[in-house]
Amino acid sequence: MEELTITRPDDWHLHLRDGAALKAVLPHTVRQFARAIIMPNLKPPIRSVADAAAYRDRILAAIPAGKQFEPLMTLYLTDNTSPEEIIRAKESQFVKAVKYYPAGATTNSDFGVTDIRKCDRVFEAMQQVDMPLLLHGEVTDPDVDMFDREKAFIERHLMPLKQRFPNLRVVLEHVTTSDAVQYALSANNIAATITPQHLLFNRNILFQGGIRPHFYCLPILKREEHRLALLQAATSGNPKFFLGTDSAPHPRNGKESSCGCAGCYSALHAMELYAEAFESVDALDKLEAFASFYGPDFYQLPCNTEQITLTRTTWRVPDEVPFTESGLVPLRAGQEMTWQMV
Ligand code: DOR
Ligand code: ZN
Repeated sequence: MEELTITRPDDWHLHLRDGAALKAVLPHTVRQFARAIIMPNLKPPIRSVADAAAYRDRILAAIPAGKQFEPLMTLYLTDNTSPEEIIRAKESQFVKAVKYYPAGATTNSDFGVTDIRKCDRVFEAMQQVDMPLLLHGEVTDPDVDMFDREKAFIERHLMPLKQRFPNLRVVLEHVTTSDAVQYALSANNIAATITPQHLLFNRNILFQGGIRPHFYCLPILKREEHRLALLQAATSGNPKFFLGTDSAPHPRNGKESSCGCAGCYSALHAMELYAEAFESVDALDKLEAFASFYGPDFYQLPCNTEQITLTRTTWRVPDEVPFTESGLVPLRAGQEMTWQMV
């Protein structure tokens, strides 16, 4: 196959940041995707419908002239989120989900939830109005090994949560393990997003020839057996698994540091990365539904009507793209890609 034309995809998990950073990265997403679920972990986070409305306006103002893009907003769940805010969110129409970060789990998660049971009244309201819950599924317990934190979250927190709220619709975001895949397959009202980096790389890449901060994200890359389970899930044609890049830009000096930030930047070439992953298992025919159909189905939105085309071309990912005080290093910087969106 030399050319692949598919329905325009959406990104169901995206970090756009704010201000100059937002202006720098938004054109990349707009080039590929029609809509995206926008993560609320700004400093300070997007905690209310009013915060989300203002952030949405800033995103809309940053869309390049003549381009179409719809930001789908989320609220950042805290210990203090009220059930009334959930009702307001549902009524707003532009808030599409609520994001749970365990306090301290990842970038800008200081305001996150300290104990998931504290949110039961909020989950009750979400279940009632059918507002999806998006999970950063990792425990923060320092005694749990870094590579076991997703599995521990599923066992300790997600399984009990699903028992308390069986009709709450949940997305286990950026799944990284075969355990997460198995759980998503076994439970009702649960879907999962998968990033390009977790489909393309295992944890060895983090240490290939030295420490490689641009492959560091959370949840961290896992063993090869887990990558293969994710690739199998993504290409299985099961609508529970859909595209979410988790593209998370940080300036080069924030990544290349004695305590570097977590996040891979993939908005520049997300569809090309996914195409490569799908082609590696001869499953390009499964890319369109994963990228363009299953996400809208979960979020109860229509699919896009336009199309995009990827062609087989060799090109080199730039070493960096302009960003803020320092440049932004895309995933796989300096390396050759085999597909290109035209
Ligand atoms: O790698 C990550 N980066 N994981 C997250 O959960 C947050 C994200 C970010 O905001 O940089
Ligand atoms: Zn994320």
